[in-house]
Amino acid sequence: MLSITLTGLKLKNPLMLAAGIMGTTGGSLKRVAESGAGAVVTKSIGLEPKSGHSNPSMVEVDCGYLNAMGLPNPSYKNFQEEIDTAKEGDVPVIASIFGGCSLDFSEIASALRADAFELNVSCPHAHGYGSEIGTDQALVEDITRAVKDAVKVPVWVKLTPNVTDIKSIGLAAEHGGADAVVAINTIRGMAIDIESGYPILGNKFGGLSGRAIKPVAIKCVYDLYETLDIPVIGVGGISDWRDAVEFIMAGAQAVEIGSAVGNNINIFNDISSGMEAFLEEKEWTLDDIYGVAHEV
Ligand code: SIN
Repeated sequence: MLSITLTGLKLKNPLMLAAGIMGTTGGSLKRVAESGAGAVVTKSIGLEPKSGHSNPSMVEVDCGYLNAMGLPNPSYKNFQEEIDTAKEGDVPVIASIFGGCSLDFSEIASALRADAFELNVSCPHAHGYGSEIGTDQALVEDITRAVKDAVKVPVWVKLTPNVTDIKSIGLAAEHGGADAVVAINTIRGMAIDIESGYPILGNKFGGLSGRAIKPVAIKCVYDLYETLDIPVIGVGGISDWRDAVEFIMAGAQAVEIGSAVGNNINIFNDISSGMEAFLEEKEWTLDDIYGVAHEV
């Protein structure tokens, strides 16, 4: 009832693990796959090993989480084994990758064997990477095209909401040949410890995820659906089946779940059952609700 084909990949349900959580080892990715996810996305992987920003790199705030991990990763040269282990979970494994230019991205993508690539041009707090390049339409188009030329699997581009007009960045990805866009990465934010007056995160500022960002993500998905011809994958603050349905109604073909996985590894099964019961009660299919918010 929930199975879909997304950019050519067959998924048993439209619920995927988002990049950045439980995605550094093949063992944890496999565990999430076996817990009901339709696909899993790895932690973002770069050219060289990177230890990331100093601690604290994550803090819970009233409305979600602030993180400034700083893209810690073991380098693509040490990551194929993790992808291979993740594949034992029998769902598509999407490699999230980052770099500072199109050459970095194409070097990494051509070396890794994954079912698809998600290009991270949206991390809000990594100097020289992420949103520093993902806010430039020409660079996004160039990077997307370089990866498309380098691989034969689908290429998704994860967009930053920290722009005036996310549609123009989505269009740049589409012009570069992207098979889908993923919206949204975290929203730039900050927290200060009032006892000391110091910023709490080691990097001072970071990216906000969790429930607070859901309405922002819904609007971005809604706008991208209206503008693009390629599929939109929704992510941002999904914590129950109602949230997933809302994203699909806004125009997401599938969704990714991040922060909420930290509290409940069974969230994929919980959301699948909730969605199935809802669709059955309404006598609707996934197709019936896809983009339905645009019909009014
Ligand atoms: C990080 O590793 O800093 C988070 C990655 C991201 O926000 O894309």
